[in-house]
Amino acid sequence: MMKKRICVMISGGGTNLQALIDMQKMGHNPNGEIVLVISSLKTAYGLERAKQHGIPTAVVRRKDFPDLEAFDRAHLELFEQYSIDLVVLAGYLSILGGTLTKTYADRIINIHPSLIPAFSGDGFYGLKVHEAVLARGVKLTGATVHFVNEITDGGKILFQKAVEVLPDDTPELLQRRVMEQAEWEILPRAVRMYCDGTLSNE
Ligand code: GRF
Repeated sequence: MMKKRICVMISGGGTNLQALIDMQKMGHNPNGEIVLVISSLKTAYGLERAKQHGIPTAVVRRKDFPDLEAFDRAHLELFEQYSIDLVVLAGYLSILGGTLTKTYADRIINIHPSLIPAFSGDGFYGLKVHEAVLARGVKLTGATVHFVNEITDGGKILFQKAVEVLPDDTPELLQRRVMEQAEWEILPRAVRMYCDGTLSNE
């Protein structure tokens, strides 16, 4: 079976990208290969992680395009050039347009650092999610992997994993625990199962 060609999209530290690279290096995703990393920011450390593993990179910044349609098309051209089968949003913070999400329907996976639908949707990203979790006083949070559609955090949920909120948690401590205990486990699992063809599509 041909390996699925994966593009990982990032905006920051790239620890979720690193988890995917590590899975690949350990031979735990034989049916997939990360062939391109796209960042929405020039300064994302995740670009360094990709370069350390010889993975081609590109920077596609929203402000370099007159509108969302042109931004989408720039991505679609890169996906075409690299024959991308699966797009993985891993700590990616730019908004993608309907052209992209429709063209790649059920072929874009996102990791969100809460148990969707809680603390999700417009304005809930990165540390803001964990700040809202602590402000609300919930005892359980976690992470969700889902297909991406035109609604922010609205696509079909694939996997979720719960993580306890501890009494003296700060947003930073909680973010780290959610990444370590949930994100870095369920995102690689979803990518591997997609490449293996065992993700149920019903
Ligand atoms: C993490 O909280 C992730 O859940 C969110 O972006 C943050 C940074 O992720 N999507 P990464 O370290 O850049 O993968």
